[in-house]
Amino acid sequence: MMTPTTSEEQFKYQSGFGNEFATEAIEGALPVGQNSPQKAPFGLYTEQFSGTAFTAPRWFNKRTWTYRVRPSVLHKPFRQIENNWLKSSPFDEIVITPNQLRWNPLPIPKTETDFVDGLITIAGNGDSFAQVGMAVHIFACNKEMTDRFFYNADGEMLIVAEKNRVRFLTELGIIEIDSGEIAVVPRGLKFRVELPDGEARGYICENYGAQFRLPELGPIGANGLANSRDFETPEAWFEDRDGEMAIVAKFGGNLWSCETDHSPLDVAAWHGNYAPYKYDLRRFNTIGSVSFDHPDPSIYTVLTSPSSEIGVANCDFVIFPDRWLVAENTFRPPWYHRNVMSEYMGLIFGQYDAKEEGFLAGGGSLHNQMSAHGPDLDAFEKASNAKLKPQKIENTLAFMFESRYIIRPTRFAMETPSLQADYYECWQGLKKNFKA
Ligand SMILES: [Fe+2]
Repeated sequence: MMTPTTSEEQFKYQSGFGNEFATEAIEGALPVGQNSPQKAPFGLYTEQFSGTAFTAPRWFNKRTWTYRVRPSVLHKPFRQIENNWLKSSPFDEIVITPNQLRWNPLPIPKTETDFVDGLITIAGNGDSFAQVGMAVHIFACNKEMTDRFFYNADGEMLIVAEKNRVRFLTELGIIEIDSGEIAVVPRGLKFRVELPDGEARGYICENYGAQFRLPELGPIGANGLANSRDFETPEAWFEDRDGEMAIVAKFGGNLWSCETDHSPLDVAAWHGNYAPYKYDLRRFNTIGSVSFDHPDPSIYTVLTSPSSEIGVANCDFVIFPDRWLVAENTFRPPWYHRNVMSEYMGLIFGQYDAKEEGFLAGGGSLHNQMSAHGPDLDAFEKASNAKLKPQKIENTLAFMFESRYIIRPTRFAMETPSLQADYYECWQGLKKNFKA
């Protein structure tokens, strides 16, 4: 059901995560009481868009009924197109190093580059054919898509806006995100991208596995972390536009393109629960220690893609937002650790509390399975000797894509000049303080 909203900003979106939505861009376009009448209103075609097997349990069964100007099948054959920097499983281009890795931000291209051409793969794991694993991409673009559309059959895409706004015009409505917000575009949904600020950059987690969902809250209770009501899904919007256009598909790890004579963004009404959504990370209700000790970062999980093993994620999306640190007699930044889970981190803005410098907005780091990491020398010295009083970490937003599978860098990621050859140096000054 549509949730009543008050502010103009909220009115564009229907709030809630996993809800059943119903929306129409033309009054009367949505059939009432049935999904597929013999003739849909206004001569629209009826088409079901399924995100889970028909027989998936009700609690995570995802499908949407669309009522559109033309059915999706109306296009010319796909042919494979060039695919330079967008990589897919099996991520076996190079031998994987156990070394800690960190990258400077990738530059935004100087030549005209749209969202699809501006996708560069940093790392990934699993097997898109088996619907297991994930990939980490950077998008950096400066050209809007007008007559070119994209869909990803290999996975859903969790998109983290880092620099500037990105507007996704999708089959099911329009979502715009700015730095500090995320959008999730379901597997298969067609969209084009506009750039209100002329250029944009950000991160993408392409999730081959189970769809992202809210983590269980356990003893935290019914509220907290990301709250369901803050996830927003667009109202129906469509364009009835003819011309020479192209649909680009990511399918089986490759890019394909086909000609079409109309915009596929022609859904006049829809109802269902398989839909894109956005979330403002500033709405995350951060929870932490109010006594002592540094909690595990799972306490900051926004969304999780579970694997077949209970409590073990195919991929977790975790954030490190503004928060108070009040723990007593405690080393407050993340302690040194080695982890069976593999961690790709990015920085949206500000300064991350375990790294005083070198970890830059738009950059990234990768600490794979059992690779040691933790605070750099400066952060260690400062946190070990700080006079502990309530302290607010402000104006910073880092995030992590964490996976149970080793995150394997691409050849590009290991050969780009953005890779920091001296990353290991940030720990080398740590000295022996031991005295028997
Ligand atoms: Fe870590």
